Amino acid sequence: MSDLSCDILPAGGLDPCILVIFGASGDLTRRKLIPALFSMFRQDLLPRPFTIVGCSRTEMDSDTFRHSLRQQMDDGLADAATWTTFASLIHYHPVRYDRESFTGLRAFLQELDRTGATGGNRVFDLAVPPQLYPVIATLLGETGLAREGEETGGWSRIVIEKPFGHDLESARELNRTLHRYFREPQIFRIDHYLAKETVQNMLVFRFANSIFEPIWNRHHISYVGIMAAESLGIGNRAGYYEEAGVLRDMFQNHLMQLLVLTGMEPPCLLEPDPVQDEKVKVIRSLRDFNTEHGSRICLGQYTAGEIDQTAVPGYRQEQGVDPRSRTPTFALLELYVDNWRWQNVPFLLVSGKRLPRKVTRIVIQFRDVPHRLFTNLAGESIGANRLTIETYPDEAIRLTFQSKQPGASLCLRSMTMDFTYGEHYRKSALDAYARVLLDCMAGDHMLFWRQDGIEQSWAFLTPVLRQCEQCLDRETRLHSYPAGTWGPAPVRQTVEELARP
Ligand code: BG6
Repeated sequence: MSDLSCDILPAGGLDPCILVIFGASGDLTRRKLIPALFSMFRQDLLPRPFTIVGCSRTEMDSDTFRHSLRQQMDDGLADAATWTTFASLIHYHPVRYDRESFTGLRAFLQELDRTGATGGNRVFDLAVPPQLYPVIATLLGETGLAREGEETGGWSRIVIEKPFGHDLESARELNRTLHRYFREPQIFRIDHYLAKETVQNMLVFRFANSIFEPIWNRHHISYVGIMAAESLGIGNRAGYYEEAGVLRDMFQNHLMQLLVLTGMEPPCLLEPDPVQDEKVKVIRSLRDFNTEHGSRICLGQYTAGEIDQTAVPGYRQEQGVDPRSRTPTFALLELYVDNWRWQNVPFLLVSGKRLPRKVTRIVIQFRDVPHRLFTNLAGESIGANRLTIETYPDEAIRLTFQSKQPGASLCLRSMTMDFTYGEHYRKSALDAYARVLLDCMAGDHMLFWRQDGIEQSWAFLTPVLRQCEQCLDRETRLHSYPAGTWGPAPVRQTVEELARP
């Protein structure tokens, strides 16, 4: 076993199991799931025995499926012998989304259990469009595939990708459907941001060090910035993105998770439920968002521009996008957490497509010094301390402070202390998808959303969406910004400030 596996596998190892991937002929399987599984295989992280079953509507046999996956793998990664051994774990079973077909699937899995000794343990990964989530969950339930225990001989888990619902009501409805057949411990709602190393490090950074927590509050922090800027556009996902827009795509899940990790109180135990309890409390403490009572939001949509000296089209010119679309591709929201720790500290959440470069970070901006002893030297511009927790481009933590420049005269200069993962650790060979699959096989919920968390997050965001989508002046509230700039003019300076190195 690699030394990596010593760190991350549960003490007793993983139970044997079958991973069933619905949507096997789709993009997510090809781009993310199979490469993640292959990398786990190469690091000896997969359970033993282990079987992968691809399911989708396309009629093909296992050999054709394996062959199609191999063709799409990066050649540099897949040396022939290792791939052949890995591919022998992969099967394909075509399904229609009806009861008869799922009864057939059940028989197929039982046969694999018998020949492969996988013990009746199953993970069902739904790499399908969201409208199929309730359909598949129901069919699994009705054909007995959600059941656990003596009858089946093993456990059954379901993995749901985002988007988990479209608003509060649809998320509740999906939870109700899942709970008809699956208990909460069987459900794994993925947010791949939670599997990022620096995001996981937030808990350690905050609660395994004693020097930050005493200043982690309204007395010392001026504002918190949470930013996920991207230079990419929407690629070939117009159908999905037109419906989702940036608020559903990035805020309801990823940015909300970063906010709760920054804002939460220390949990009493490092176990999924106590951690989730603290996270949910933060979302419940968010001040109601109402633009009529002064809540601030800025929405934008990119127009044609240049990124890295290459001309790129505007959002409305992207293939599959309505030329009059009012879907926002950028948003800045100012939120407040109404509790003792955070009263009146703005949390600025920003995300946008087609910004100049990709930057994902949390910025803790501390207050100015109370007495400007050095004002005569530095004018008004003594930079306050800033802590940056970054996941992209570097996985890093940076602390900026003032120092005296060497020399006879007293001149101040901003300096930054850097810790980068890349420099200090062998780069983690485990990508976010591998991490979440592994945790799901291990039954560990720490990196997944719990039902109440997801519902609270929608409960907060749904009125925001309503205010944005149902207001009469929707068109005028949507600011355009040229691709390659830091968002709409009214907030560009703020965004630039958050993105500054
Ligand atoms: C996905 C969104 O969840 O996250 C995409 O649907 C976005 O629109 C992506 O590009 C960003 O993830 P990462 O890991 O590249 O920051």
